[in-house]
Amino acid sequence: MTENSKIFLKNKIYFLRESNKDDHQFIYNLTNEFIKSNLSVTYLTLEPFEKFFNNKTKRFMITDGINLIGFVQILENNEVGYFLDKEFQNKGIGTEAVELLMNIFPRKRYFATIHNNNESSKKLVKKLGFFPKATIYEKITDS
Ligand SMILES: CC(C)(COP(=O)(O)OP(=O)(O)OC[C@H]1O[C@@H](n2cnc3c(N)ncnc32)[C@H](O)[C@@H]1OP(=O)(O)O)[C@@H](O)C(=O)NCCC(=O)NCCS
Repeated sequence: MTENSKIFLKNKIYFLRESNKDDHQFIYNLTNEFIKSNLSVTYLTLEPFEKFFNNKTKRFMITDGINLIGFVQILENNEVGYFLDKEFQNKGIGTEAVELLMNIFPRKRYFATIHNNNESSKKLVKKLGFFPKATIYEKITDS
C-alpha cells in the first residue's frame, strides 16, 4: 500500500489512511482523554508529546477526508489499539476499522490489553475472534 492509499469502510464514507505529523495533536488529545477515563490498563500517565510519537507504532486515521473521527494502531509487538471520538462510538466503525488494520498487517497473532470495565472494547475484540488470555494484577501504593 502506498502512503496516500485510502482503505474504505463498508459505508464508503469513512476510510483509513496512514497517519502523518498533522494528525499528532488529534491522536495525543484522544489518547489523553482515554487515559483520564480510567480505562487505560498500563499507561496511567501520558508521555510527553515528542516521546509519545518516537516509536515504531503504525497508525491509521479514520476519516471522511475532512474530519478525523478516530485512529487505529498496531504496536511493534502486535498489540492493537483503537480510539474513536465519542460521537462516533457504537456504530460499528471501531470493529470494522480494526479488522481492516489486521488485513493491512497480517500477523499470526494479535493481542489487546483491555480494562475489565471497557465493555465496548471487550465486545469489539470478541467480534474479531479474540479470546481472553491473561489477567493483569495491580497493586496501588501510597508512594
Ligand atoms: C472501543 C471503541 C474503539 C469501540 O469502537 P466502536 O465503534 O464504538 O465499537 P463497535 O460499535 O464496533 O462495537 C462496540 C460494541 O460494544 C457494545 N457496547 C457498547 N457499550 C457497551 C456496554 N456498556 N456494555 C455492553 N456492550 C456495550 C455495542 O453495543 C457494540 O456491540 P454490538 O456490535 O453488538 O452492537 C470505542 O468505543 C472507543 O473509542 N472507546 C474509547 C477508547 C477505547 O476504549 N479504546 C480501546 C482501548 S483498549
